Formats: sequence, C-alpha cells, structure tokens
Amino acid sequence: MSQDGVNKGRRTLLVGVTSAVGAVGAGFVAVPFVKSWVPSEKAKAAGAPAKIDVSKIEPGSMLTAEWRGKPVYVVRRTDDMLENLPEHNDRLKDPDNSNKAQQPAYADNINRSRKPEVLVVLGVCTHLGCAPKYFGEVQPQQFDANWPGGWFCPCHGSRFDLSGRVFQGSPAASNLEIPPHSYESANVVVVGVDEENA
Ligand code: FES
Repeated sequence: MSQDGVNKGRRTLLVGVTSAVGAVGAGFVAVPFVKSWVPSEKAKAAGAPAKIDVSKIEPGSMLTAEWRGKPVYVVRRTDDMLENLPEHNDRLKDPDNSNKAQQPAYADNINRSRKPEVLVVLGVCTHLGCAPKYFGEVQPQQFDANWPGGWFCPCHGSRFDLSGRVFQGSPAASNLEIPPHSYESANVVVVGVDEENA
C-alpha cells in the first residue's frame, strides 16, 4: 500500500486484465472486418481479364464476349471497311478521338485498335448504356440512308461507325469505349490487360 492509499500491485493487475479483455474483444471485431476485404471467387472472376480467340471470326463479322459484366464486341474488319472509315469523318461528332478517356493511347488512331483489322470495343451505348446492334453491311438502312456499317442503338437511335465513333444527330455524346486490351498470341486478345506480349 502506498502513501496515497492506492494499492499499486492491484492497480497493475486490473490494468493487465482490462488490456487482455480489450485485446480479445478487438480480435472478435477484427475477423469479420478482415473477411469483408477478401474478394470472393465470384468477384475475382468478375474482375479477371477476358481471353478471346479472334481466329474464328469471319471477315466482316462480330463476336460478343464479356468482361466485367459488360459486353465486348470484337469485329474482324475487311480492307473495304477500313478504307471506308475516313470517308464519313465529316458526319461524326468526334472523328479524331478528342475524348481521350474513350480509348487507350495505342487505340488513339482512326481504326481505334492495336491491329487495324480487329476492333475490340465495349458494347455499351455512351448515351444510357443499352447494347447497340451490329449492322456491318454498307447498305441503306431505315435509320440511315447512307449507312457505312457500324452499330445502331435501338433505345434512342444512336449510331456508331465501324470504329465505334458516334455519328452526328445521335443522343450519345461520345464514341464507344475501347477497353484496355493486348495480344497474348497472334490470335488471342486479352481484354483488361494493357501490356503487349505477343
Ligand atoms: S442508350 Fe443508346 S441511344 Fe440511348
């Protein structure tokens, strides 16, 4: 017993017991907290890159894949399709890709792709998110008498060319988005990975 009447030995014991309870309590609280930060297998799969074999896509045709829950359109463009791209620049809202957020730097060209013949683009209309429909043929359409091929969004009528560039008169303000992608081999595109290994 000290002069001020405090039993130092008992105080030390009480502090020790309190700390121990605190530590155990913290342990119980910490476990669910840590668990909530571990992504589930489903979440990991949803964020994983998507590998797409482009070798089976016929010239002029489109394949639909999925990445992060969004449709990814992959088109194998013909030489004619590529040659036509500059022909309608004056009908587009943003022919020169001035909105840099809509494509990675390596797709900041008229083809909006790494390889001219293969376009990889998100199938998500930049108006309100519908999935535009593919009309690859150069032929008059109900929605455009001078249709040069591309996508038409059935929700409110936005039109995009075969590089995903938006036509004037569309409610969508910007070009379709080009996701990060690279080639793992000559015919396998990996969506979600920027580094080129092929
Ligand atoms: S969502 Fe495509 S035009 Fe509105």
